[in-house]
Amino acid sequence: GKGAAMVTAVACRLVSQRKQIDEVLASFHLSEENLIEVKNKMKDELEYGLKKETHAIATVKMLPTYVCGTPDGTEKGKFLALDLGGTNFRVLLVKIRSGRRKSVRMYNKIFAIPLEIMQGTGEELFDHIVQCIADFLEYMGIKGARLPLGFTFSFPCRQASIDKGTLVEWTKGFKATECEGEDVVDMLREAIKRRNEFDLDIVAVVNDTVGTMMTCGYEDPNCEIGLIAGTGSNVCYMEEMKNIETVEGTEGKMCINTEWGGFGDNGCIDSIRTKYDKEVDEGSLNPGKQRYEKMTSGMYLGEIVRQILIDLTKHGLLFRGQISESLRTRGIFETKFLSQIESDRLALLQARRILQQLGLDSTCDDSIIVKEVCGAVSKRAAQLCGAGLAAIVEKKRENRNLEHLKITVGVDGTLYKLHPHFSRILQETVKELAPHCDVTFMLSEDGSGKGAALITAVAKRLHNAGE
Ligand code: GLC
Repeated sequence: GKGAAMVTAVACRLVSQRKQIDEVLASFHLSEENLIEVKNKMKDELEYGLKKETHAIATVKMLPTYVCGTPDGTEKGKFLALDLGGTNFRVLLVKIRSGRRKSVRMYNKIFAIPLEIMQGTGEELFDHIVQCIADFLEYMGIKGARLPLGFTFSFPCRQASIDKGTLVEWTKGFKATECEGEDVVDMLREAIKRRNEFDLDIVAVVNDTVGTMMTCGYEDPNCEIGLIAGTGSNVCYMEEMKNIETVEGTEGKMCINTEWGGFGDNGCIDSIRTKYDKEVDEGSLNPGKQRYEKMTSGMYLGEIVRQILIDLTKHGLLFRGQISESLRTRGIFETKFLSQIESDRLALLQARRILQQLGLDSTCDDSIIVKEVCGAVSKRAAQLCGAGLAAIVEKKRENRNLEHLKITVGVDGTLYKLHPHFSRILQETVKELAPHCDVTFMLSEDGSGKGAALITAVAKRLHNAGE
């Protein structure tokens, strides 16, 4: 009768709704074939970045770092380190002891960088940085010391030596004016001069990936790759000098900062980008740039989730069809929320509480769907990152003409460290796509601080030896 017809109608609607949701989730699914293609394309792009004829237009920039070896344990001294470009801005004092009781001790202070400074003028940004250094020196009671400083500056820099770095372009959340094309070490020196309160010996400018590799290299000489899966996504690795056509010389190795976040900026992975990826890109500070980073890193995953939720809500599939103010707010889904919602230990009720915190009033069904969406987005991110890393380890294996390569990757970043599934999926993907490589993942303990200090120590030693 009528009742049965109504039940059927409701059931039909539910089935069709489920189908629509599944279609959205499926657009984030990557087949093995997709992943192999990503790996192969990444490999090609790595080559373009290294070659003389193609490096100028390459989307994976392959920037030489002038770091030519991993630490050997003889490093020692007191250093300052700055860490700009990750989740926090920090100033650190690092004390390294060599010899049989080799150790690294660190003291650090976190400072906020207000949005208006991140996106103000370069002078304001660097004045703020120097203000923070002054506070730190004061706090530690070492204002008169003129310590050597390593500057971890986690953005693409074109280097001509270890202590020079021209910012190619801002990435992630930064957009300060009058910095692109300028030497960030000069900018820091000038800001120190303007303040005229203390002096520092700026020895090295370091990418966070390189700091991470060096920190792990201090414990494990097999560590020749550094990976960051955090606010941004990037990798560095030791490359044979003879393959780096953009630097004179053919002997030994040099660390290359790949800046793989720009992978895909020439459209080469457009076939796997969804309309949500495009929306995130268009709403970002750097549209058209860092397309791979925008699919793989903490700063953007929450945004992808938000775009999907908006779309599902518009189609009446979520939140009773009501797009709330908070859902309209850019950046509400931080990595930590993604991690929490996906945590298996959490009951759905708790997932709903988290959504509530974000201002999203969910039903039980809603929270299930949100969790599925988060899972699809972060799984794809981990797989893509794994495919990229497979390209790197395969390249290293081929470089050395080995049947089998054993290598360690130093890793840091909030996404890798805090997300409940990201690291596992990343590792599984590398294993599948690079079966002839035995890859060990080593968590870096504060690579941006310790690594910068180690690089500074090595640079200082080499410099003094050359004097
Ligand atoms: C961005 C930056 C890169 C950095 C990465 C991780 O991709 O361009 O230099 O290493 O974020 O912080």
